[in-house]
Amino acid sequence: MKPINVGLLGIGTVGGGTFTVLSRNQEEITRRAGRPIRITAVADRDTARAQQIVGDKARVTADAMDIVRDPEIDIVIELIGGYGVAKELVLAAIEHGKHVVTANKALLALHGNEIFAAAQKKGVMVAFEAAVAGGIPIIKALREGLTANRIEWLAGIINGTTNYILSEMRDKGLSFETALAQAQALGYAEADPTFDVEGVDAAHKLTIMSAIAFGIPMQFQKAHVEGISKLTREDISYAEELGYRIKLLGITRRTPRGVELRVHPTLVPERRLIANVEGVMNAVLVKGDAVGQTLYYGRGAGVEPTASAVVADLVDVTRMHTSDPEHRVPHLAFQADQLVDLPILPIGDVETAFYLRLQVVNRAGVLADITRILADHSISIEAMIQKEPPEGQDKTSIILLTHRVLERDVLAAIARIEQLATVDGTVTKIRMEELGN
Ligand code: HSE
Repeated sequence: MKPINVGLLGIGTVGGGTFTVLSRNQEEITRRAGRPIRITAVADRDTARAQQIVGDKARVTADAMDIVRDPEIDIVIELIGGYGVAKELVLAAIEHGKHVVTANKALLALHGNEIFAAAQKKGVMVAFEAAVAGGIPIIKALREGLTANRIEWLAGIINGTTNYILSEMRDKGLSFETALAQAQALGYAEADPTFDVEGVDAAHKLTIMSAIAFGIPMQFQKAHVEGISKLTREDISYAEELGYRIKLLGITRRTPRGVELRVHPTLVPERRLIANVEGVMNAVLVKGDAVGQTLYYGRGAGVEPTASAVVADLVDVTRMHTSDPEHRVPHLAFQADQLVDLPILPIGDVETAFYLRLQVVNRAGVLADITRILADHSISIEAMIQKEPPEGQDKTSIILLTHRVLERDVLAAIARIEQLATVDGTVTKIRMEELGN
């Protein structure tokens, strides 16, 4: 059968991996797709390097627009990244009637609504399995496997760099800075690791999953985003004493008042499987009303894991491209005219339990003052530990775990606690999720 022709924009590491996986597994992939899938054109600024990778199998150009406009090309893979030229090229490819496969989470989280509207109008597919959690087929699971369910919430470890850092801090007692330097040396973190460590990369991925879980537009700007750069070894080890691990989670939940969309360090009971996901591995826990909890685990980054997702999308598009657009799986899992604009809850309106750490003077009545303020704000305490003050000091740490409470109430209580003369500095607060049901 006639091969389907693919144009690849950007042949960096993932692009090269896609080329390798397609070639290596060509026979199996053809048996699955029903026809051969061939990358016949590649655009990259470094044409010499690109040519070296593809040999005589594809033509190489420095002009990506040339591929986007090529009438011989059926599918365009965008692996350039970012939302400048990548956005322009994806929209141009759609305009020229090409199906698009992309790994670009930032582009979709920020401009997905515009891109999907354009694709809907032209009747083309935009596939994005590789944009979230690398090789884990979580988009497939959410869009298709769980389609019978009303999805209630999902929580994911969706940034490998930060999970590696947190694992090293806990295992080896390293500081954040040392663990980050190690991640950089091993090539896990980006050269500018801000997107990883400040939770932005995870928020991009969470925004995409939230849209397809609940049938809502992409609303990255409304996500609450906190990273791990302020976490200390002490908090990780106190959490452990209390039976918890700290993970950077992306959490989205449907509540009667709106949708929670938040990325932040989170205490998770250590008995949960997701709490035991270590190193660069990713995992996403999804709760559907019919199926209950399901957990997806695997490599969230890396050359061949990401290529695995890109090629899976190529096979999907190849199988479906001759079908009527209305018979395909909708881009965001729900029919385009059935998306609902549920409000995203401001973080103050989100209800969670909290871990609070305070530095206090070790004197009678100090704890009573603190618990009175918490009681004034209807905050109930679940557990508490008080550390022995270091030799010769009268200051000590108190760690409190609260029951579930509205964030704005806990913030109001913290503001009052920080005013107490017996409390030193600021109160550390980390959210806590049971993820039990
Ligand atoms: N920088 C990401 C991570 C990889 O560390 O998980 C791709 O999203």
